[in-house]
Amino acid sequence: MAVAKPRRFLLSSAMFIVLEGIDGTGKSTQSQLLAEWFRSQGRDVVTSREPTDGPWGKKLRQSAAAGRLSPEDELDYFLKDRSQHVAELITPSLAAGKVVILDRYYFSSMAYQGTRGFDPLEIRRRNEAFAPIPDQLFILDIDVDTALSRIGNRGDSANEFEQRESLQRCREIFLSLSDEPFAHVIDSRGSLEEVQAAIRESLG
Ligand code: TYD
Repeated sequence: MAVAKPRRFLLSSAMFIVLEGIDGTGKSTQSQLLAEWFRSQGRDVVTSREPTDGPWGKKLRQSAAAGRLSPEDELDYFLKDRSQHVAELITPSLAAGKVVILDRYYFSSMAYQGTRGFDPLEIRRRNEAFAPIPDQLFILDIDVDTALSRIGNRGDSANEFEQRESLQRCREIFLSLSDEPFAHVIDSRGSLEEVQAAIRESLG
C-alpha cells in the first residue's frame, strides 16, 4: 500500500502563513477555511488580521471613515500597529508551535503605502527589521475589474477611477513578490472551493 508523503505542516512545528491581495480577492474567507482545515488536522491555529483591533489599528479604521491620514502618518500607524501585533501575538504564538494565519501583513504596506508614494522596497526593509518573514505567502490574484465588481464598484465616477488606478498599482506590487521562494500566486477567479484547493495544493 502506498504510504502518504510526510508533510512538514502536519508535524507540531510552528508555521507562519500570510494571505495578501487587493480588496475583493476573498482573503478573509480563505483564511478562515484554511484555519478550519488545519484544525481538522489537529493543529493549534491562531488567525488574525491587519490592521488589528488594537489601538493603532482602530485609529486606522476610523481614519478610513473620517478622512484619510497623511501618507507619512498612515505608514507610521501601520508600522506601530504591526510592531504591537508581532510582539503580542505573532511571535508568542509561533514560539508556542502554533499555526499563525494572517489576513494581510507588511506586503500590504508595500502595496498600499507604496501606491501613496513610498518606495515599496524601503517599506519592506523597514518592516523586516522587526517583523518575521512568513513561511508561506499566498497572493490571491484577480484582475482589477473583477475585484471592483465584487466590491460593488463599477469604476464609473472620478473617485472610482482613482480607486481603479490605485488598485492596479497595488496588484502590480503584490505580483512583484511572485519570485520570492516563499510566495505563491493563486488565481482567485474560481469558486471558494477551487481557490481553497489551490492554496492547500501549494502547501503540499
Ligand atoms: P481590509 O483587510 O480590507 O479590512 P476591512 O475588511 O476592514 O475593510 O483592510 C483595510 C485596508 O487597509 C485595505 O484597503 C488595505 C489597507 N492596508 C494598508 O493600506 N496598509 C497595510 O499595511 C495594511 C495591513 C492594510
